[in-house]
Amino acid sequence: MGVGGVATVALSLLSAPAAALGTPPPGGPCAGHAARHDRIASVLDRRAEVHARRGHLATARAYRRRARWQVELAHYYGEQARRHPLPRGAAVAYRTLRRSTALRRSFLMGFEQLTPENEMKMERLQPAPGVFRFREADWIVRFARKYCKRIRGHTLVYGRQLPRWASDGRFDAARLGFEMEWHVRSVMDRYRGRVGEWDVVNEAIAADGEYTRNVWFRALGKSYVERAFRAAHDADPGAALFYNDSGIELPNHPHTVAVRAMIADLRRRGVPVHGVGIQNHVSTTHNASEAALAKTIRKFTKLGVTVAITEMDVKLDSPGAPARRLERQRLVYRAAARACRRNPRCTSFSTWGVGDRVSWLGPAAQGLLFDFGYQRKPAYSAVSHSFGSPPGRETSQDEPGRPLGAPRL
Ligand code: G3I
Repeated sequence: MGVGGVATVALSLLSAPAAALGTPPPGGPCAGHAARHDRIASVLDRRAEVHARRGHLATARAYRRRARWQVELAHYYGEQARRHPLPRGAAVAYRTLRRSTALRRSFLMGFEQLTPENEMKMERLQPAPGVFRFREADWIVRFARKYCKRIRGHTLVYGRQLPRWASDGRFDAARLGFEMEWHVRSVMDRYRGRVGEWDVVNEAIAADGEYTRNVWFRALGKSYVERAFRAAHDADPGAALFYNDSGIELPNHPHTVAVRAMIADLRRRGVPVHGVGIQNHVSTTHNASEAALAKTIRKFTKLGVTVAITEMDVKLDSPGAPARRLERQRLVYRAAARACRRNPRCTSFSTWGVGDRVSWLGPAAQGLLFDFGYQRKPAYSAVSHSFGSPPGRETSQDEPGRPLGAPRL
């Protein structure tokens, strides 16, 4: 089915009756969806035949229309289950995902994974001690599972976007430590089995390689990182637990070196850290080359963790005509996509948003894969083609390394 068909299905799906999509069967959100809709299509086709033989032509046509809809659903879910050994992700926000059909359609067609941009941060989930507000995060999780998308939970312990009670000094260190672990356990308990991957701790290290002096560090010292990961693993032993940070794209930067040292120390002490998220917020003038990022990824995976590119955007800050700036952006995205694709332990590639219209950078930065009007930009093809999705502009011969679409080891 062509892209148009997927778009049609994607748009139709948005208003599909919940019953048609049902609760995903065990074995992952996509498993079985395609086969089930194929079976329903066959039943409807047989009924159309019976009515046609009896001369009930209008009824027969109605059954055939419903059968075609089921076939399209089967194609969509089959596509979701089949493509991408390496999922492409995007950060999405509750409000804009609900409001914008164009954003939803671009996300459904262009990505296999989502990260709630703000809805799973402490300020949103626990605005008062013991008072949890899951409505928006629940809606996003339901949306993801309805459309067979993986979910990255972001983020359980962060020095920003905290509720007042966590940062106004009312609690002493012991209570703050208890509240931090309670928050981690409560949130992960709610989404156990539905959110398979979490940014447990976000941005604990600063650009100079020192610990960020956030409220958790000031109260608990660097032990808060270990406590957060152990609480997370206790709450959901099946979840992949990530440390996520910005500014760690270059292998020998003090920030990257300090994060590597922290991860190595944690793992040496048996702390359940399974992955490192490289945010990769870069620009067309400041970014890591494919070789540098590949080396960074390799040095992390040698510590025994997987790596994900978790929040990429490429701000257009270079001079020149629009086409030239977009081409530079395409090359920056392609370099990162290739660096990830080449390493079997680079497990996903996410951008921090779907389209420029609602990027945290603001539309003028033009940092994402879809433009202000949700049209694909040249960078879209660079990323999608690298991960085995419908071919973009590039041809496989200029893609050295592992053959495209080869199963990941
Ligand atoms: O929800 C309030 C709204 O009620 C109010 O009217 C409005 C105006 O003040 O502010 C809204 O909150 C904003 C929030 O985003 C939700 O839109 C905050 O002011 C704003 O600071 C916050 O920015 C977020 C930023 O993290 C804060 O740290 C961005 O949306 C979000 O994209 C960004 O994401 C971070 C990742 O979590 C970690 N890595 C870096 C990345 C970019 O900073």
